[in-house]
Amino acid sequence: MYLNGEYIDHSEAKVSVDDRGFLFADGVYEVVRVYDGRPFLMEPHVVRMKEGLRALQIDTSCIQDLEQVAERLLRENGITDGDATIYAQVSRGVAPRKHAFPPDCTPTIYVAAKRFNNHPTSYFEDGVAAVTVPDNRWTRCDIKSIALLPNVLANQAAHAADAFEALFVKDGVVIEGSHSNLFAVLDGTLITYPKSNYILAGITRALVIELARELGIPFAEAPLYWERLGDVEELFLSGTTTEVMPITKVDGRPVGIGRVGQVTKRLQEAYAQRAHPTASVSA
Ligand SMILES: Cc1ncc(COP(=O)(O)O)c(C=O)c1O
Repeated sequence: MYLNGEYIDHSEAKVSVDDRGFLFADGVYEVVRVYDGRPFLMEPHVVRMKEGLRALQIDTSCIQDLEQVAERLLRENGITDGDATIYAQVSRGVAPRKHAFPPDCTPTIYVAAKRFNNHPTSYFEDGVAAVTVPDNRWTRCDIKSIALLPNVLANQAAHAADAFEALFVKDGVVIEGSHSNLFAVLDGTLITYPKSNYILAGITRALVIELARELGIPFAEAPLYWERLGDVEELFLSGTTTEVMPITKVDGRPVGIGRVGQVTKRLQEAYAQRAHPTASVSA
């Protein structure tokens, strides 16, 4: 792994208990997918991380070498093929515990590349279950903050209910998942919650929108009201580790006819072609 300028073994890594990431969750993170040994959509991830750092008033130059660091970690970990992830985290750094920013704090930078065991194929082919939960997060969900307690609790509620994901409901609108964005097909149009401070604008979300436009699928950024869940024809999640994952059940009730829909399947195929551009497409 990479920690503060050094390439070290996981077992040697040490971070101070005075680190503001540990004490205040004062930091941001990114997860980048690696397909066939190559980082996927690295650039938009770096752009989003810089936006997050700016929002936290942390100098963005601390991640200027992130792409090279990621490449070296992949190389040194022998990840030249297959599925993996790169995790990158920046906290404000180490300082005596006081809320206001300390003067001259050096950010703590942690980057790791790890093999990724993808979800079972059945999740993508047959769909997963989701539950709805009230959105009790703050109003800056556009920042990919390491303060994830509401997401952790929501996701745990999903797991306790044998579901894959928890869907946050804010003011009667189902807005996104605990670690994914949400898309629905309603009245023949693909919709997803508008980009705003209430959701994390996923890199995969942006790709799905681009693919939908390429495929000529009618699309709108629009709210999905909780009371219209029963009318939804298709529902799916998007995310770096979630990819395009169909939801076939919400709160125990089937979505549409309870099977993966055609729009979802077309987007899954288009996504796979982007992820593995050199793979031959089966007829
Ligand atoms: C709350 C939330 N929404 C959406 C996403 C999906 O974002 P991306 O596609 O960039 O992985 C994530 C990813 O972790 C997330 O935590």
